[in-house]
Formats: sequence, C-alpha cells, structure tokens
Amino acid sequence: MNRKDIIFLIGFMGSGKSTLGRKLAEMLNYNYLDTDALIEEMEGKTISDIFENEGEEYFRKKEKEILSQVILKENIVVATGGGLPCFFDNMEIIQSNGLSFFLEITPKDLLERLRGETEKRPLLSNKKEKELLEWMELMLDERNIFYSKATFTIDGSLSLDELSKRILNKIHSYEG
Ligand code: S3P
Repeated sequence: MNRKDIIFLIGFMGSGKSTLGRKLAEMLNYNYLDTDALIEEMEGKTISDIFENEGEEYFRKKEKEILSQVILKENIVVATGGGLPCFFDNMEIIQSNGLSFFLEITPKDLLERLRGETEKRPLLSNKKEKELLEWMELMLDERNIFYSKATFTIDGSLSLDELSKRILNKIHSYEG
C-alpha cells in the first residue's frame, strides 16, 4: 500500500482537522473519516457519554480499535481525535500506514476557536477560561512529543484554502 493512500490529520482539539479533512478529501477524491464519529457510530453513544459512563481509558481503547480498522482502507483522509496519536503505539501505526500532517496552533488561538465549543468535548467542560489556557499549555507540552513525529508540520492558523493548497503540494511531491 502507498502511504499516500491514507492522509492523517493530527493536532489538538480545535485545530481544524475536520473542516480541512472534508475539503482535502473532496479535492483528492478520497473518502473522509473522523475517528470520533466512527467511535460514536460503533458504540451508539456520543463521545461525552462514553467518557462519562465508560471512562477515558475505555475511550482510548476504542480509538486504538478504530485506528486498526481505518488502516485497512485506501484513499481516505482521516481526522483523528486530538488525543489519539498520544496513546499506545498509535503514532507509530499512523506513521507506518500513511502520511500525517500536524496542524500546529498556539494555545491562545486554540482557546479562541474552542470558545463555546467545550460542551461536546468532555476534557474541556467544567474548566474556566484561565484554567483552560493553563491546562492546554500543559497538554500541548506533553502531546507535542507525539504530534511532532508527523510527516509534516503545518501552520494551522493559515486559511483553509492556503492550508489545503500546501498540503496537496506536499502530498503530490512526496516520494518517501
Ligand atoms: C480529545 C479530543 C476530541 C475527542 C475527545 C478527546 C482529546 O477530538 O476525541 O473529546 O483527548 O484531545 P477532537 O480533537 O476532534 O475534538
């Protein structure tokens, strides 16, 4: 299988993976997949319900399960949940099965984007703004170790058009 057959978008919550993923899939004529949506479908529950009833550990196992199913497919763009690359050997699996793009965004910009969107994200709910920024800075420090293993790091604050153009160029010129 060619690594260009699977394009993974990785990065923190709010970095724009889903919007960009849909657009890229359309441009590449690939299918679009979202690991959170696949888990919700498999479990018949929302991510928030899974966190609340089964706990985070259970959710992380489901993410791994979904990842192992996703890599069997071809011609797909996958928007991964923000934590997915940071658990188990998921990042190694991503790297050996596809091309990955890390959408890098500063905590301040992320906070701006996530305002009013915390409800469907269990890790963010119940946190006040100042607390949220500090928590995000800490999480990013930990998670950047994983995210930075991506094939490419892209400035996620660019416009959607610019981002998709740059990513398509990288995919087309990739010869690894
Ligand atoms: C999470 C990110 C979420 C979702 C879950 C946990 C995380 O996905 O998987 O709420 O650990 O960062 P998005 O990045 O799509 O919001």
